[in-house]
Amino acid sequence: MFKRVVVGNDGSDNAVQAIETAAEIAKADNAELIVAHVWHLPATAYIGAPYAPLDLSRQMDETKKSANDRAGSVLERIGIEGRLVELEGNPADAIIGLADDEEADLIVVGSRGLGAVERFVLGSTSERIVRHAACPVLVVR
Ligand SMILES: Nc1ncnc2c1ncn2[C@@H]1O[C@H](COP(=O)(O)OP(=O)(O)O)[C@@H](O)[C@H]1O
Ligand SMILES: [Mg+2]
Repeated sequence: MFKRVVVGNDGSDNAVQAIETAAEIAKADNAELIVAHVWHLPATAYIGAPYAPLDLSRQMDETKKSANDRAGSVLERIGIEGRLVELEGNPADAIIGLADDEEADLIVVGSRGLGAVERFVLGSTSERIVRHAACPVLVVR
């Protein structure tokens, strides 16, 4: 049914669940799987918190590596090849843009991410993707 699936990976437990679901769907449909990690500056950096450039670049490397490592082990366990893509910017906009560029026919995200706050039903990234994506979106809880 699906030909190309994009899944958002911020390295959180919920994103890992989303990757598992996306991988199972892609495997069953013989679809291409793209796992996207979007680097974005921590909000505190915008308001002038004293991040040294070196700290930021190390934090970026560590965040990317841990997210990609988690994705890699899911794909290996499920037995499917996936393309790991790294982007920068607003996570929702970057994922929607990627899905458009790649002509993806499904976006999969977790309902929560790294910034999980219990009182919210949906995280801001997944909510923005549900609202603005051009293709179907599956939110994994
Ligand atoms: N930086 C990111 N890169 C890739 N995917 C992301 C990113 N941030 C969030 N996502 C996707 O969106 C889902 C929900 O996260 P989010 O909406 O940011 O929730 P929260 O507000 O709890 O952090 C994640 O499980 C992941 O699938
Ligand atoms: Mg988040």
